Amino acid sequence: MTFLFNSDARRGAVFAEAFAEELPDIPFTTNAATVDPDAVRYLITWTAPEDLARYRNLEILFSIGAGVDQFRLDRVPEQVKIVRTIEEGIVRMMQEYATLAVLALHRSLPGYLAQQRAGEWRDIPQLQAASRRIGVLGLGQLGQAVLDRLKPFGFPLAGWSRSPRRIEGVTCHDGRHGLQEMLAASDILVCLLPLTEETRGFLDAELFAKLPEGAALVHAGRGPELDHEALVAALDSGRLSAAMIDVTDPEPLPSGHPFWSHPKIILTPHVASVTQPATAARAVIDNIKRHRAGLDPIGLVDRSRGY
Ligand code: NDP
Ligand code: OXD
Repeated sequence: MTFLFNSDARRGAVFAEAFAEELPDIPFTTNAATVDPDAVRYLITWTAPEDLARYRNLEILFSIGAGVDQFRLDRVPEQVKIVRTIEEGIVRMMQEYATLAVLALHRSLPGYLAQQRAGEWRDIPQLQAASRRIGVLGLGQLGQAVLDRLKPFGFPLAGWSRSPRRIEGVTCHDGRHGLQEMLAASDILVCLLPLTEETRGFLDAELFAKLPEGAALVHAGRGPELDHEALVAALDSGRLSAAMIDVTDPEPLPSGHPFWSHPKIILTPHVASVTQPATAARAVIDNIKRHRAGLDPIGLVDRSRGY
C-alpha cells in the first residue's frame, strides 16, 4: 500500500515528513518511475497522468488543488474516489486575494494607476462601503470564506449557488431566477465557481448586461468561465468599469493579448491562492484515516455535478 506524490519537490518533502510521522505504515514515494504500480493506493497530483490506468489498485486520486477540472473525470475508473484539497492555507489566501481585489475596485485603484501613469493628480468620486453591493458567484468553501472576511467592511453582501443556502449577513440566491436578482444588485461581482459544463463561458456579454452599469468584476474561478472578448468589449464600452482577473484561458496568456495592457484590468498569474504543504498534508492524512475508517473523505467530488 503506497502513497505516490506527484508534484513539486519542496511540497513533497513536507508531505514525506508528515506521512512518516502520522501514517508510518504507508510507504511514501515521489518516484513514479520506480514504484510498483500495483502497490499504489493513493495518488496526489495536479493533472492526472496519461497512464493512470496502470495503478490498478488505486483507491483515491487527490487533486493537490481545490479544483478538479484539470482531471478528465470520465477517464478516472469508477471505483476510484476523486478528492479535492480543502485546507486552511488555500482558504486564507483566497480570502486575502478577494479582499485585495474588492477593495482595489471599490477604491478605484485601476483608475488611480492610470492617472499616475498619465501624471494626473485628481480624485475620483468615492462610494461608501454601505452603498457598494458585493455579489459572490459560488457559495462553497471559498465563496463562503470570502464573504465572511468581507463582512467587517460593511458592504451589502449577496451570494449565489446551485442549491439553496443560508448564511448569516448574506442575501443568498440560487437557481436562474436568483441569479438575475443577484446580478442586478451586484456593483462588484466575484466569481468563485468551479469549472463544469454549466459554468464554461458563464461570464459573457449577456451576464455583463444584467449587472448595474459600471459594475466591476473579480474573477478567481477558472479561465474558461470567462468570455475574454466580451470582457474587453464591456470594459471598452463602459458597461463594466474595471476587472481584477487571476485566471485566464490559456494560462499563461499569449503576448499581445489585450488583458496584458488593458488600463481597466489588473491581471495576476493564477496566484490568488496556493496549496500550503503543511496544512494540505494534514488534510490528506486525515482523509486517508477517514477512508480507512469507512468514512467519505472531505472534499469528495460528486462526478455527476463535476465538482
Ligand atoms: P466548492 O465546490 O466548495 O463550491 C462551489 C460552489 O459553486 C458551490 O456553492 C456550488 O453550489 C456552486 N456552483 C457550482 N456549479 C454551479 C452552478 N452551475 N450554478 C450555481 N452554483 C454553482 O468549491 P470551492 O469554493 O472550494 O472552489 C471554487 C473554485 O475556485 C474551484 O473549483 C477552483 O476552480 C477555484 N480556485 C481558484 C484558485 C485560484 O488560485 N484562482 C484557487 C483555488 C480554487 P452548491 O453550494 O449548490 O453546490
Ligand atoms: C486550485 C488552484 O484549484 O490553485 O487550488 O487553482
